[in-house]
Amino acid sequence: MCSRDFLRAKLEKRKLSMVTCYDYTFARLLSQSPIDGILVGDSAAMVMHGHPSTLSANVELMRLHTEAVARGAAPKFVVADMPFLSFRKGVEAALDTAAVLMTAGAHAVKIEGVDGHEDVIQRLAQSGVPVMGHLGLQPQSVHSYGGYRVQGRSEDAAQEIARQAARLEELGAFAIVLECVPAAVGERITESLGIPTIGIGAGGGCDGQILVLQDLLGMNVDFHPKFARSFLDGVGSVTNALSRFDEAVKAGTFPSKEETYS
Ligand code: KIV
Repeated sequence: MCSRDFLRAKLEKRKLSMVTCYDYTFARLLSQSPIDGILVGDSAAMVMHGHPSTLSANVELMRLHTEAVARGAAPKFVVADMPFLSFRKGVEAALDTAAVLMTAGAHAVKIEGVDGHEDVIQRLAQSGVPVMGHLGLQPQSVHSYGGYRVQGRSEDAAQEIARQAARLEELGAFAIVLECVPAAVGERITESLGIPTIGIGAGGGCDGQILVLQDLLGMNVDFHPKFARSFLDGVGSVTNALSRFDEAVKAGTFPSKEETYS
């Protein structure tokens, strides 16, 4: 898979599946799965480090997680998030951040928004760095929304997201994550673009879907967004395994003779 395959999938009307990943162990599992692409999301700050938002993800944190994922992910296509403000300090600084992430093993970078950093998106795309856009709810702007809220509910707001999506396509983005918009808005924007949309809480009309891996695996004890389906009872499975280990240790049945060196 490469960025051009995203376009091909859209032309052939094949849905794209993506998940987030932040570590080597899960990257190894994903490498053997049919999933089309992996996002080393700045959600690592929340999911892996317990921060309240993605604003705490910096370039160094993203580099470490990208390297860990890239070590295990081959042959999967790996996208890494450009962290908070890293693409707002001028083209040179943004190119330096992208270089860190790409040399850490990413095959593309994802950037939230478009207005005010068009030059960065265009320069990266023209430099051979595939750029994935991110519109709708942009988690790095959480404080300007006053919370994680559905975007594009009014006609004006929907048109504004559609305008930004068209602009991203013009600037050379190869795909756009659409987060938390009404399904009708997701569908309308998807139909208006030549590049694919990857939805998260943006309805079934998008060209693909992405979920945070821990949400998909039902491992999130604190947070259950409406759009996230658990395909596994991760909390139950992990809790059960830990209780069985504890019981076996306390009953003296672990380790057994076979699990002991002579
Ligand atoms: O960082 C992340 O997990 C993301 C997804 C919500 C798409 O950007």
